[in-house]
Amino acid sequence: MKLLFVCLGNICRSPTAEGVMRRLVRERGLEDAITIDSAGTGGWHVGAPPDERSTRAAARRGITLEGAARKVRASDFDEFDLILAADREIVAALRALAPDDEARAKVRLLREFDPASAGGDLDVPDPYYGAAGGFDEVLDLVEAACAGLLDEVAARG
Ligand code: 4NP
Repeated sequence: MKLLFVCLGNICRSPTAEGVMRRLVRERGLEDAITIDSAGTGGWHVGAPPDERSTRAAARRGITLEGAARKVRASDFDEFDLILAADREIVAALRALAPDDEARAKVRLLREFDPASAGGDLDVPDPYYGAAGGFDEVLDLVEAACAGLLDEVAARG
């Protein structure tokens, strides 16, 4: 199973989801079964490491953020089984990029997998220009969604 987390810049929300999911997968001993990557729909930060504010907030929870930002590419729709978008704007951008219906069906809102969020607002708010607390909020939302996502992925085998 191959999972791709996608946000706008690939420096805040999706690297956070990638780090959170890597730890959950490691805790369950599923590293060999689940591949994880992240990307952005925008290209401004390509090559950059995760935002320091995200990295520090994650480190306080014992989570390591790594990698260099990259843009989503057409081959991602072939390579990955599920493409998890941080918010509805990202879903729309990904659906527009997807080459066909099969590819579009792989695109889901990350927080759809948070069992506690049913019916509510399913966006992970963009923390980049917001207050410092936004980075902890991203972690709270992403941790809940990734736990649900892993349960579902593990159940699928
Ligand atoms: P992300 O946050 O999509 O969670 O990585 C952002 C990072 C950078 C920008 C916007 C959002 N930006 O406009 O540069």
